[in-house]
Amino acid sequence: MSYHPALQALSFDHRQMIAMIHKIHKALHGPPKELRANIDDLLSYWQENGTFHIWEEEAILLPILHYRTPISSNSHLQQMLDDHATIRDSFHNLSITFEAGDPLEADHLHFLGLTLLRHISLEEILVFPKLLKRLPEPDLAELAIRAKLFRKFMDLPHRRPDQAPLRRLDDYLSSPASP
Ligand SMILES: [Fe+2]
Ligand SMILES: [Fe+2]
Repeated sequence: MSYHPALQALSFDHRQMIAMIHKIHKALHGPPKELRANIDDLLSYWQENGTFHIWEEEAILLPILHYRTPISSNSHLQQMLDDHATIRDSFHNLSITFEAGDPLEADHLHFLGLTLLRHISLEEILVFPKLLKRLPEPDLAELAIRAKLFRKFMDLPHRRPDQAPLRRLDDYLSSPASP
């Protein structure tokens, strides 16, 4: 997991997501009611954090990296984008099934869990370390600034929820210079 300021918020999200996947995996072997409660948590997390996490990677991280390593020339970055599409589609399907009150398919949940774990491994083991090696320090500093601003605009915690209380976008716009 990365502790560099440019990546630590994304890595923190990854840790949260892994914990959630483990919970779902455990719940698959428990009572259906418990599974539904966990899926409810997972979908809330996805809507409130996961969608923005992927957005941040595509809108903030990839453009700065693309400047040094074109996405079309790098199979890991292409895989990253493919995974994002798969993950989004899988969450859409899960959300529709859940809202309709239809039975949750264990195969679908295993697929989603496995896809997320593989994807997080790809980023943490292959993409992030290479990014830290390839980008010069000024680019990493720029990435950290852009990531922080993105989370401020999106009203997301920058590091940990307890270290960075949520602020409304209105608050930020009325005092953009304050931390
Ligand atoms: Fe990702
Ligand atoms: Fe990620």
